[in-house]
Amino acid sequence: MNDTTPTAAERAEKLQGMGCKRKRVEDIRFVQGKGNYVDDLKLPGMLYGDFTRSPHAHARVKKIDTAKAAAVPGVVAVITAETLKTVNLAWMPTLAGDVQMVLADGKVLFQNQEVAFVVAEDRYTAADAADLVEVEYEALPCNVDPLKAMATNAPVIREDVKDKKEGAHGPRKHYNHVFNWQAGYKAKTDAVFAKADVTIKEMIVYPRVHPCPLETCQCVASFDKIKGELTLWGTFQAPHVIRTVGSLISKIPEHKIHVIAPDIGGGFGNKVGAYPGYICAIVASIVTGRPVKWVEDRIENLSTTAFARDFYMETEIAATKDGKVTGLRCYTVADHGAFDACANATKWPAGLFSIISGSYDFPAAHVSVDGVYTNKAPGGVAYRCSFRVTEAAYAIERAMDIMAQKLKMDPAEFRMKNLIRREQFPYTSTFGWVYDSGDYHTALNKAMETVGYKKLREEQKKRQEAFKRGETRELMGIGVAFFTEIVGAGPSRNCDILGIAMFDSAEIRIHPTGSGICRLGTKSQGQGHETTYAQIIATELGLPADNIMVEEGNTDTAPYGLGTYGSRSTPVSGAATAMACRKIKAKAQMIAAYMLEVHDDDLEWDVDRFRVKGNPERFKTMTELAWAAYHEVPPGMEPGLEAINYYDPPNFTYPFGAYICVVDVDVDTGSTKVRRFYALDDCGTRINPMIIEGQIHGGLTEAFGIAMGQEIHYDDDGNVTTASLMDYFLPTAVETPKWEVDFTTTPSPHHPIGAKGVGESPNVGGVPCFSNAVNDAFAFLGSTNIPMPHDNWRTWMAADKLGLHP
Ligand code: CDP
Repeated sequence: MNDTTPTAAERAEKLQGMGCKRKRVEDIRFVQGKGNYVDDLKLPGMLYGDFTRSPHAHARVKKIDTAKAAAVPGVVAVITAETLKTVNLAWMPTLAGDVQMVLADGKVLFQNQEVAFVVAEDRYTAADAADLVEVEYEALPCNVDPLKAMATNAPVIREDVKDKKEGAHGPRKHYNHVFNWQAGYKAKTDAVFAKADVTIKEMIVYPRVHPCPLETCQCVASFDKIKGELTLWGTFQAPHVIRTVGSLISKIPEHKIHVIAPDIGGGFGNKVGAYPGYICAIVASIVTGRPVKWVEDRIENLSTTAFARDFYMETEIAATKDGKVTGLRCYTVADHGAFDACANATKWPAGLFSIISGSYDFPAAHVSVDGVYTNKAPGGVAYRCSFRVTEAAYAIERAMDIMAQKLKMDPAEFRMKNLIRREQFPYTSTFGWVYDSGDYHTALNKAMETVGYKKLREEQKKRQEAFKRGETRELMGIGVAFFTEIVGAGPSRNCDILGIAMFDSAEIRIHPTGSGICRLGTKSQGQGHETTYAQIIATELGLPADNIMVEEGNTDTAPYGLGTYGSRSTPVSGAATAMACRKIKAKAQMIAAYMLEVHDDDLEWDVDRFRVKGNPERFKTMTELAWAAYHEVPPGMEPGLEAINYYDPPNFTYPFGAYICVVDVDVDTGSTKVRRFYALDDCGTRINPMIIEGQIHGGLTEAFGIAMGQEIHYDDDGNVTTASLMDYFLPTAVETPKWEVDFTTTPSPHHPIGAKGVGESPNVGGVPCFSNAVNDAFAFLGSTNIPMPHDNWRTWMAADKLGLHP
């Protein structure tokens, strides 16, 4: 070794492995407008499809006349349910075990439902002709209120299942009932409540919101009649699931379906399921023999493809006088819209909602969820949340504040008293979840110290006194939220989709020169997978991240996987990547031993090489070993250096975080200014701190949008009144507050690299934190629960109700 020999630390730095703030490699094409999205695809002879949609929320379809539309020059085909019936595709299965109309069959069940599909030479002709499809409707009474769905005289929404006593998830108690799902211990919990010192009960509503990705849902279907093969490009978060479901529905053999998800402009759960647009484009391509493109516009995206939330959660907490929680009860009505098309693992019709006991040590708890049909669009997807975790976190974090208020305790102090303690991990919650690791008190203490919590409360007290004296019209609110996520679906014993176990995969091939390719079953929609998976490989294999190409989204080349949603990429495919690397490394070690003429056990790993123990001058780098794998393997060993891993995680991972927000609310205008937002996240081992920061910023911005202004709203006639970005609040840089981010690191004990997911966390923790801050501003005046969204008008109304306006 001489002075110029790089040290181990210098060699490690060069690799740009885990822990490095590596710049996102995908951004090179994105920032130059060189991304390759579905709508960039142009195929020879390609046609365009567009929908005729229902203006009614609930109506009988008496007649559809397509003659005028079909006569428009340039129109090639007009497809209705009758056309689809000839190929048995008028209805399609949903991911939740229900069926869904592809095109209106006898009735329409929500506004903007797909009625006919017009295929034309260009998009504008298709849109114009779609307006000329003549549909005779007979309007029916509609219901968009889930709390009235099971009333005796409620309109029958689904005539096809009205007499069915059993649904996909057990007995049904009403013709608009989808399922009842329960978890926890009812009798034990009821007994706790019966003798509790203090209880609270509050209806906590998480309104219907929409993931609203920048790029809407879209696809191009191209059926090759000669080969009998279908190629489907689309905005798919789960390409393999689309291929399997597509094969089951269409009866085209799975190996003859090629699903390709190119670059995706945001998914957030909106692009997990299958939509009528996909089926219609496929059928149209089969019928016309030409490729067919379908691209949603913004109104269609907001009003028809998968929504999120819409949970009505009557939440109760029982506690002792001195502030120790003893019980939790929650009865929820979940609005599933007209078809149950929720994207949940099969066993969990209400997702992972039983994470509702959150970060607290509840000795007893019980939840019961009734899913119901209404005249709204279907969906119920994991919008930056792991299957209803956001709803659960919102309910518990609001309820904890309400209980603290009743006990006259500070909300942070009340949380401190009830947080699961470090020594209790691995912690089994009363619902049976085994939380892998956590250090909650350290996190909350750090958050409180950093923001100067005590001083903020003193300032708030002074402001309240000044307000009472009439010296100010501005209130100060401090929001505290502590959340625990459950991400990485999932262990196959718990999670499957349509019977397919929720494992995931990575296949790594190292080329002779030491560069390589990694293909995975997940699919980035902007999360930076091309950057971060390569970092895992860099650290595990000692090859520079820049030499590793990451590829996802092509079902012909990627190993089978269940896709990206619910922060499952790092916990599942991240683990698969590490495990595949370890197989490669084991083979490389044998090659090194052979080349160095020592026993395998006499070698030790040193950043990017195997060296002889006690003789570090004798080594073989991974780059040398890659070359040797193709030229100089030990006798009897197969040449090549590649491995595949299908990873079925032993458990979920449980990231957590402590968030604090400070707002100033003008009671005369309802205007709420976010003065400060501090987010401390713990996602275990951090692969790329810069990408994590970006994920947190993005998720907090979405949380801000949801808490402060978003709602997919319907009037009493079922008209969706927020179907454009004029009416649906999407925060821009102008409105978005500044974020302060921080972290602690508590590795997951069962994940090969100790990493937990992070993408969903800021949405899960951010929403209750904002809401608690606004509620906290009014709490000293006796207000307990101002519902979301906290836009100016609703906040003004809340102030008015409290008699604050002259
Ligand atoms: O499944 P999805 O990609 O949406 O979520 P994720 O697994 O939470 O990862 C989001 C992004 O953050 C990915 O690029 C991850 O590699 C990165 N990440 C990280 O750098 N360190 C972690 N401990 C978790 C995620």
